[in-house]
Amino acid sequence: MKNNFIKIRNYLYLKAFKFLIGFERFSNNGFALNILSTDFIDDPYSTYSSMRSKKKIYYSSSTFLHWVTNMEYVQDMLRNKDFSVDDRKYSIAKRRRKELIKDGREIMLDQFDNPSILKLDPPDHSRIRKLVSYGFTNRYISSLESEIKKTINECLDKTHDESSFDLIDALAKPLPAIVIAKMMGLPNEDLNQFQKWSEDLLLEVGGITSSEIQRKKARDAYEELIRYFERIILERKDNPGDDFIGKLIQAEEEGDKLNVKEMFGTCLLLLVAGHETTTRLIGNGLFTLFKHPEQFNHLKNNFDLIPNAIEEMLRFEPPVHATVRFAHDDMIYAGKKFKRGTAFAISIAGANRDPLANKNPNEFDITRENIKHVSFGYGPHMCIGAHLARIETKLAFETMFDRFPDMKLIDKNPEWGKNFIFRGFDHLEIKAN
Ligand code: HEM
Repeated sequence: MKNNFIKIRNYLYLKAFKFLIGFERFSNNGFALNILSTDFIDDPYSTYSSMRSKKKIYYSSSTFLHWVTNMEYVQDMLRNKDFSVDDRKYSIAKRRRKELIKDGREIMLDQFDNPSILKLDPPDHSRIRKLVSYGFTNRYISSLESEIKKTINECLDKTHDESSFDLIDALAKPLPAIVIAKMMGLPNEDLNQFQKWSEDLLLEVGGITSSEIQRKKARDAYEELIRYFERIILERKDNPGDDFIGKLIQAEEEGDKLNVKEMFGTCLLLLVAGHETTTRLIGNGLFTLFKHPEQFNHLKNNFDLIPNAIEEMLRFEPPVHATVRFAHDDMIYAGKKFKRGTAFAISIAGANRDPLANKNPNEFDITRENIKHVSFGYGPHMCIGAHLARIETKLAFETMFDRFPDMKLIDKNPEWGKNFIFRGFDHLEIKAN
């Protein structure tokens, strides 16, 4: 009975979505943003380009979002205090709370009301970010280099006897997960479990085709992760140690400390932000190089170009395609009126391909100078883990080129994941030699 109800509801959602796409097409001279279409999943960039050339801020009725795809506005909105990340303040929160209560998700509700820095505005954001940053200095991250290199080799050693392997399973997925787990002092045996939790968690974030089952999986994973960190942090309170969680427990700034809920939020954020994104950067970057064989060959013989190539990978195929901001108050912006709480999709991928930011933006060029991208965000919420992600990716490419200089892509057209926020591959089959 319940299954039939869900089927009917999904059918009606799809009908409503198609109707809204039709309406958008009708009001935009035949153009619409259709995040479900295979054309969009394969190449979202041409859609962003059309949106950018049509309007400074493009309203899409099927996503109920105002999309910003040009670099100037994206950067301005990411640093402008008139735009907020804190969805608790706006009418959208009422719906979310109601939904979580109906679903019996008290733990998630509590976390929604005590979010991580990603969802906090100043002054709480500035206060907590300062404390979190203590565990994330460039000096400390750089000191992890040899450990990271060792981990990369251990991951690749496991493919030793195989002439072909899945690069995502073998390296891109485990590497950032192992590194963040080690940084946080989490037990090795928990690795597979929390990797699975954080994968499941994303099924509800930007999942283009999230089904009821996927949503349940995502929410179960969220609750398990909160319980997991709750246990670890409480166990460690009296004996913090000197890993990242220990540093978080001890971090103090002018008498201020993180409370237990702030610590859960931070750990959860770091775990998810810390590896899903880097996994995608390694996969997207390698795939793009395979699509440009002359640059692949040039790079494998010129390791000093790898840092610049990584910036170009970040610009060209960013792992995080979009983030959200809300109008703090009723306002006029870019010549248009917006109501308090209006939601904007800040298109990182769109901004990176803005021709006013980068010349010939649709060309991939590892030697490009003055690369302008917002793939790690911009302004007060700029990514805390950027240095770590860059080091992991640099060492991953150096080691792959060293060990498999003649590697080839087996499936030339692997499928992009169906997620319009996190873009990347679930699998990338490589012939090693
Ligand atoms: C290629 C890898 C990565 C990408 C593309 C990436 C991307 C981003 C972006 C776009 C934001 C800003 C979101 C917004 O303004 O709404 C962000 C924030 C953040 N990232 Fe990353 N990230 C990566 C890796 C990491 C790693 C390795 C960590 C930590 C281990 C991390 C931790 C964070 C945290 C804590 C924030 C929130 C900062 C704040 O709100 O003040 N990220 N990241």
